[in-house]
Amino acid sequence: MNPRLDQLHPYPFQKLRELFAGVTPNPALAPINLSIGEPKHPTPQFIKDALIAGLDGLANYPVTQGSDALRGAIAAWAGRRYGVTLDPATEVLPVNGSREALFAFAQASVDSTRHGRRTVVSPNPFYQIYEGAALLAGARPFFLNTLPENGFRMDWSRVPEDLWETVSLVYVCSPGNPTGKVMSLADWKELFDLSDRHGFVIAADECYSEIYFPFPLAGEGANAEPKPIDEGAPPLGALTASQQLGRGFRNLAVFNSLSKRSNVPGLRSGMVAGDAALMKQFLLYRTYHGSAMSPAVQAASVAAWNDEAHVIENRRQYAEKFAAVMPLLKDVLAFDAPDAAFYLWAKVPGGDDAAFARGLYEKQHVTVLPGSFLARDAANVNPGRGFVRIALVDSLAACVEAAKRIATFVGEAA
Ligand SMILES: Cc1ncc(COP(=O)(O)O)c(C=O)c1O
Repeated sequence: MNPRLDQLHPYPFQKLRELFAGVTPNPALAPINLSIGEPKHPTPQFIKDALIAGLDGLANYPVTQGSDALRGAIAAWAGRRYGVTLDPATEVLPVNGSREALFAFAQASVDSTRHGRRTVVSPNPFYQIYEGAALLAGARPFFLNTLPENGFRMDWSRVPEDLWETVSLVYVCSPGNPTGKVMSLADWKELFDLSDRHGFVIAADECYSEIYFPFPLAGEGANAEPKPIDEGAPPLGALTASQQLGRGFRNLAVFNSLSKRSNVPGLRSGMVAGDAALMKQFLLYRTYHGSAMSPAVQAASVAAWNDEAHVIENRRQYAEKFAAVMPLLKDVLAFDAPDAAFYLWAKVPGGDDAAFARGLYEKQHVTVLPGSFLARDAANVNPGRGFVRIALVDSLAACVEAAKRIATFVGEAA
C-alpha cells in the first residue's frame, strides 16, 4: 500500500473516543453532543421531493461536469450571493460535497516532483482534510497558526520568504472552522498579492458562508432578541474580493456546499468555482477519479441552490441559539462572538482542553471537541491548546441545556 497512508493522523473523533475510554458519563443526564459539525436541522421537504422526482435519472451515467441545469443554478446562486458573473460552462463544477473536492483538488494541483512545488499551506487549527490531502499528494504541509493575538487571522509574514517559491497550494477557510472568523477585503488582497507574486493556487473553503447572523452577536447585541427577518451582512467571499480587486479569478478555486446551507449533509453536494484554467484541469482529474454526481442528487441540488427561503430560516435558528447560549457562557468561558459559522471557539479555565472535555463528559454528559485535536504543533505551540470547539448544531433547547451544564461544570470545578 501507499506508504503515505501511514502519515495520516487519527481523525479528531477517534482521538475523542480514546480520550473518553473508560469514562462513565453521568447516567442521570441525557447525552448532548456538540462536538461534531454536523447540521441537525431537518432537511427541507422540497429538497427531498426533488430528489425523489429525480430518481428516473438513475438509469443513466451522469457526466462528471454535471448537468447544464445544475451548473446554471450554481452560477445563478453565485451571481445573487457574490455579485459575480460565472460562466457555467467553464467556471463552475458540481462536487460530491466539499470534503471530497477539497481533498481531490490537492491531488490535481500540487506539483510534488523533486524540483516542484511541494508545500501546501494550511491554517492551524484546521479542517483535517487539508492535511491529509497534502500528504497524499506528496506535499509537505506548512501550518500557519491562527491565534487570539493575531485576531485568528493567518499571518502571512510568518511564512519564511524562501518557502513561498515551493508553495503549490494555500488552503484558507472563511468563515473559519473552528474560529468563526471571516477574512476581510484587506486579508484577501494580501493573499492575492502573494499568489500573484509567487504563482500558487488558492483553495478557498467557504462551506459556512451562509451561516451568518441577522443581528450583531457581540456586545449588547448578544442579549438582543432574535429578529424574524434576515438582515445580516453576508460574509465577504473570495470571488467577490477577487473581482473587486480587479484580478478576475486567477489561481482561485472557491469551494462551497449545500450541507450546512440547506441541512443536507447526507446528500453529498457542493460546488467549486473560479479560474477556468483550474476548473478545466480539475474536471480532467475528476473524470479519471470517477466523481460524477448522481442525477437524482443533481436534481435535488438544483432545487436547493434555487431557493433562499429555507436558508434564511436556517440562519434564524442558529442566530437564536447563539443569542441564547452566549449569555449563559460568557462568565465561565472566554470567547469572541463568531463572525459566522455555527461554532463557539472558547478558551477553557485552566488551559487543559482535553481534561476539560473529559471532565465535562463525565460530570455533565456533554461532548465538546478539544481544540488541540484540531491543530498540530507549529512554531513551538499547538494553537488549539486551551480551546474547545462547541458546535451549536442541536436544538435550541439542547444547546441551552448544554450551556447550563457547562456553567455548572465550570462552577463546581472552580
Ligand atoms: C471547514 C469545512 N470544510 C468542508 C467541510 C465538508 O463539508 P461537506 O463535505 O459536507 O460539503 C466541513 C464539514 O464539516 C468543514 O467543516
